[in-house]
Amino acid sequence: MSVIGVLTAGGDCPGLNAVIRAVVSRAHEVHDSEVVGIMNGWEGLMDGNVRLLERRDVRGILVRGGTILGTSRKDPYVHGDGFASVSKTLVANAIDTLVVIGGDGTLRTALKLVEDGVKVIGVPKTIDNDIAATDFTFGFDTAVQVVTDAIDRLTTTAEAHNRVILVEVMGRTKGWIATYAGIAGGAEAILIPEIPYDLAEVAAIIQRRHRRGKNYSIVVVAEGVEPPEKTKLAKDAFGFDRLGGVAYQLAPVIEGLTGFETRVTVLGHLQRGGTPTAFDRVLATRLGAKAADLAAEGASGIMVALRGAAIVPVPLEEACADIRGVDAELYDVARTFFG
Ligand code: F6P
Repeated sequence: MSVIGVLTAGGDCPGLNAVIRAVVSRAHEVHDSEVVGIMNGWEGLMDGNVRLLERRDVRGILVRGGTILGTSRKDPYVHGDGFASVSKTLVANAIDTLVVIGGDGTLRTALKLVEDGVKVIGVPKTIDNDIAATDFTFGFDTAVQVVTDAIDRLTTTAEAHNRVILVEVMGRTKGWIATYAGIAGGAEAILIPEIPYDLAEVAAIIQRRHRRGKNYSIVVVAEGVEPPEKTKLAKDAFGFDRLGGVAYQLAPVIEGLTGFETRVTVLGHLQRGGTPTAFDRVLATRLGAKAADLAAEGASGIMVALRGAAIVPVPLEEACADIRGVDAELYDVARTFFG
């Protein structure tokens, strides 16, 4: 009987539990394999903090946000001795293949382990939707829905008060959430890191709209856009930049240029919490099942990906080679509706 080790690392994302459930169910029901859950991401692999996962352990978790395994940003190659710091747990639990559910940083760590001889299948996860080699990541659809609902609500209060409201959303260096939710919510402008912005142009769009009789505007701002004034970003415990709040710098400039009262809403971690949408539940389930199938076949160095409507294996190197940004064509469609 083969043994799969499964872990979730990096920021959490709606759908992680759906993947875990699918890996465990598929391994038990179809492949007669065992699954060992590794607690708190790579940290559990370094500390030997694991638990056996039976089907009863994953019943009822499909709809739950977060991850029953916990997560962290600890990395064996940064905070330990690389392969040497995880090998004891792999051997002690007779783990044949690791199923690693994570974003770009986690997948790069997974690739290093592959190079060090560990069998790994990657599952792409992030609300940011910026992982290369897959068309969508689970969690993204949920985040877009949360932001769209927020825009719908902010629109009515903006209209009642004749205000401009800046809605700041997550996505780090890429503007997928901003672009999708901006289109879905009918935003007047969308600022994303991939495309330099000009606040005078944004102000002109808003003024033109107001001249046409619409006295309110919604501007979606991706958290990773260049701030008007360079500020030193705070770091988290693992040295990652803490983003969030750039809209507070942009708002007074827009208010000054337009003369319209401007307010800010930063949606933050609301976008990552709660139950996944039906689309994300299905995508996460399909990815988890495919990861268990590939592990049973003895595959390694592979990431499961959504290409078109199909779940396919792609080389982990391909997924780690790039961080995928919003394509110009999509942004151009969004721009059609500005103002
Ligand atoms: O990468 C996912 C993400 O949610 C980003 O969109 C955001 O910048 C970051 O994580 C926030 O991380 P943390 O929860 O560590 O503040």
